[in-house]
Amino acid sequence: LNWTQPPNPIAALLEAKRSSGVPILDLTESNPTRVGLSYPAGRILAALAREEALRYDPSARGLAPAREAVAAYYRQRGANVDSSGVLLTASTSEAYSYLFQLLCDPGDEVLTPRPSYPLFEFLAGLACVAVRQYPLRYDGVWHIDFAALESAIADRTRAVVVVNPNNPTGSFLKRDELERLEDLAARRGLAIISDEVFCDYVFGAAADRVITLAGERRALTFSLSGLSKIAGLPQMKLGWIAASGPGAGEALHALELIADTYLSVGTPVQAALPDLLASSHTVRDAIRARMAANRARLDQALAGFAATVLPAEGGWYAVAQIPRTRSEEQWVLELLDKHNVLVQPGFFFDFESEAFLVLSLLPEPAVFDEGVRRLRAIL
Ligand SMILES: Cc1ncc(COP(=O)(O)O)c(C=O)c1O
Repeated sequence: LNWTQPPNPIAALLEAKRSSGVPILDLTESNPTRVGLSYPAGRILAALAREEALRYDPSARGLAPAREAVAAYYRQRGANVDSSGVLLTASTSEAYSYLFQLLCDPGDEVLTPRPSYPLFEFLAGLACVAVRQYPLRYDGVWHIDFAALESAIADRTRAVVVVNPNNPTGSFLKRDELERLEDLAARRGLAIISDEVFCDYVFGAAADRVITLAGERRALTFSLSGLSKIAGLPQMKLGWIAASGPGAGEALHALELIADTYLSVGTPVQAALPDLLASSHTVRDAIRARMAANRARLDQALAGFAATVLPAEGGWYAVAQIPRTRSEEQWVLELLDKHNVLVQPGFFFDFESEAFLVLSLLPEPAVFDEGVRRLRAIL
C-alpha cells in the first residue's frame, strides 16, 4: 500500500471545514445508523441479550443456528442454500480478504468491475494480490463488456468479482450475463466472487435481473453479504460467504482453516443473528422508502437542469452526469467550499470518463433536499 499518500484535496477541504465547525450537508452518508431511521430497538437489544452470548464455544464456520438463518435468508429469495455451504465472517470486507487468501498466491490477480466500489485496491493489496479492472459499459443500461473481461484474463488471474447490484451504478447482473460469466469462469478455471450486500434494494421489477448467485452454480462461486446493508446494522460486524459450485466443499474446508486462525466473529452477534434477520425487514422497508423518496426528489429537482440522473435498478446511490465544463474535482470542491455540500466525484469509483457525481440516497430528507437545492444552484 501507498501508506504515505497525502489526503486528496477534497478530504483536506472537508477536514478543514469540519475542524472550523462549519455544518456540512453530507450527501455521501452511507451509515444507516446516522440518518434518523427507526429501528426495532427492543427486538435488537433483546436478541443480543441471549444466554448463549455468555459461553465461548468457538466454531470456525460459525454457530449452526446462525448459519441456518443465513441459509433460510437465501431460500426466501428462491436460492437453494444449505447451512453447510455458509461460513460467517465479521464483515463482507473480511470475507473478501479470506477469499483473496484462499484463491491467490502473492502476485496473483483478481478482476474487478469498473466503475465500482473503491475498497478493492486496498483489500487486494493487503493480501498481496493485484487488481485488474474490467469495464462495465453504459448505453442506457449498464452491462459487462465480455470481450474486455475475457482479454483481461491473464495466467495469474484467479477470480472475477461482480458487485450485484453494483455500487454506485445500481445495475444488476442479467440472466444472460450470468450464463456467459459462468461459462467463462468454468472454461478459464476462475472463481466468481459476487458481492450482494445491496441485493435487497431493488427499484421496480424486471424478470431478467439476477438477485443472488447463491445456489447451484457451474463454476466455483462465493456470494457475500452481511448485516451491514441488509439489516442496516454495520456496527454488529457480521457478514458471510455462501459457497457453491464445483470445488465448494474443498474451498469451505480451506476457508474454515483461515477463519479458525482469527475466530473474529463475536458470539453475541452470532447468537442474535436469527432474531436480527427475522426483524430486519422493518429497517429494510424504511431504507427502501427513504431511497425511493430521495430518488424522486433528486429527479424532480434536477429536471430541466444541466444534469442527467442515470437510471438505476437498485442499491443506495444515484449517479448524476454533469457538464464537463469543469473537472469532477473542481465541481466537488466548489460545492463543498462555497455551499458546504459534500458529494463524491465519479473518479473515486473509476468512471471511465468525466463528469459524474455520486450521491447517497440515504440522508435525511431535509438534508438531502437542501443539498440537492444547492447542487442545482451551481448547475
Ligand atoms: C459494494 C460493497 N461491498 C461491501 C461493503 C462493505 O460491507 P461490510 O460492512 O459488510 O464490510 C460495502 C460498503 O459500503 C459496499 O458498498
